[in-house]
Amino acid sequence: MNAGAGRITIGSMNAHPHIATDLGSVIRRQVPRYTSYPTAPHFTTDVGPEAYEDWLRRAGASGLPVSLYLHVPYCRSICHYCGCSTKASRKDGPVRAYVEVLRREIAMVAERLGPVAVSHVHWGGGTPNLLGHADFETLVGDLHAHFDLSAVVEHAIELDPREMGPDDARFLARMGVNRASLGVQDLDSTVQEAIGRHQPLELVEAAVSQLHRAGIGAINMDLIYGLPFQTHQTIRRTAMHVAGLAPSRISLFGYAHVPWFRPNQRLIDEASLPGGDLRLALSRTARETIDAFGYEAIGIDHFARPEDPLTLARDARTLHRNFQGYTTDDAQILVGFGSSSIGRTPWGYVQNAVANGVWRRAIEQDRLPVERGRAYAGEDLLRAAVIEELLCFFDVDLAAVAARHGADPAVLAGGIDTLRPLIAAGWVEVDGWRVAIRTHGPEIARVVASAFDAYLGTGGRHSVAV
Ligand SMILES: C[S@@+](CC[C@H](N)C(=O)[O-])C[C@H]1O[C@@H](n2cnc3c(N)ncnc32)[C@H](O)[C@@H]1O
Ligand code: SF4
Repeated sequence: MNAGAGRITIGSMNAHPHIATDLGSVIRRQVPRYTSYPTAPHFTTDVGPEAYEDWLRRAGASGLPVSLYLHVPYCRSICHYCGCSTKASRKDGPVRAYVEVLRREIAMVAERLGPVAVSHVHWGGGTPNLLGHADFETLVGDLHAHFDLSAVVEHAIELDPREMGPDDARFLARMGVNRASLGVQDLDSTVQEAIGRHQPLELVEAAVSQLHRAGIGAINMDLIYGLPFQTHQTIRRTAMHVAGLAPSRISLFGYAHVPWFRPNQRLIDEASLPGGDLRLALSRTARETIDAFGYEAIGIDHFARPEDPLTLARDARTLHRNFQGYTTDDAQILVGFGSSSIGRTPWGYVQNAVANGVWRRAIEQDRLPVERGRAYAGEDLLRAAVIEELLCFFDVDLAAVAARHGADPAVLAGGIDTLRPLIAAGWVEVDGWRVAIRTHGPEIARVVASAFDAYLGTGGRHSVAV
């Protein structure tokens, strides 16, 4: 998921209103998920194909390593809760046609970028495992033909376990894939019925053992809290089953319910959704259960084994946050392929056309399919670094970050002022220019980070913090 659920927005708010200090009010504040800064609602059509053309050429000339993201916006059916940029296709035809356009986009971008060294490859969606083996092999062949993949550290893919054929894992391993993320969400049959996703535990177990047999041991599983009919008992059982399968990482997302934006979510009966306090309590039950299995909490919504590279990166303060969530990927250049995918360069962000048809037509007319973006300006990179550190480590030395950016930390003083109520409550501690979140870290980190967001309240609507 690169564009998709990360762009979900709900509710509106004023910039930096007074922060209350009862936890319920804080976590119900509507703040961005900060997978980028400035965030996607601030992207505009001021950045289009011409800017991207220039940025690609400069990126190629920079000699910096590049990460690649390939978006596959198709699923066999749409889960009721889904907020990702994807559509249902029962047939293979649309997926195969999409692959042909994707190949042209890869060639177009490569022409501008040159044969750069790639450090990370990530396939997201939608459901990338809907691609047939032949199409996947062709695309991987194209990547090898255009770029230098000899030093790829991580080649990751998001997989729907329900769509895995018996030989898929071995095939993916042969293609160089070394990390897989499985969508699990919830294993309770009542919850699964309400979300339109039938996926018994045995199916997940089979996917995991297939991946292990193929030598893909780096496995992530996605869980969601806040889904219909979840109770402490059901979410504890789901978390126990998942942690019991010992994946190297677990993600625990809060369900973002935006039926006006994602009509498929209208299939969910709102009366069955756990409300504010229960939602928070469910997230804690899930967190405590995962914790009891020896996982380390990473940032606001990830868990990893103590020896996992994500944990080591957190401890070494080299952890990052990008459109894929928490990552060890430190590439400054992220090139996105496919409709709706987002890319990042040292000069700003770009997003491809969200509508498949618009994306396809641009490529057929030999134009880069960029629809909007955002060039960095003013304090953007400084504030992006502050926000990233707060979300990765729950603390930040504003003076050190400012020094790295040749800035005066005084420009960030307004953020500390905004945090006064949380400081008075003892949740946030400030010592000189050091800001540290002391309690409720996963629950309040987005709100704390938002104190340093100069655009807060001007970009529309965001999801609640928990
Ligand atoms: C691209 S999907 C994962 C791969 C595959 N399509 C699947 O579902 O198995 C990315 C993840 O986004 C999360 N997600 C989707 N819609 C969401 C929503 N409305 N709120 C929170 N998380 C959501 C789910 O956990 C899902 O596994
Ligand atoms: S399979 Fe994954 S991407 Fe597709 S609808 Fe379900 S959650 Fe969304």
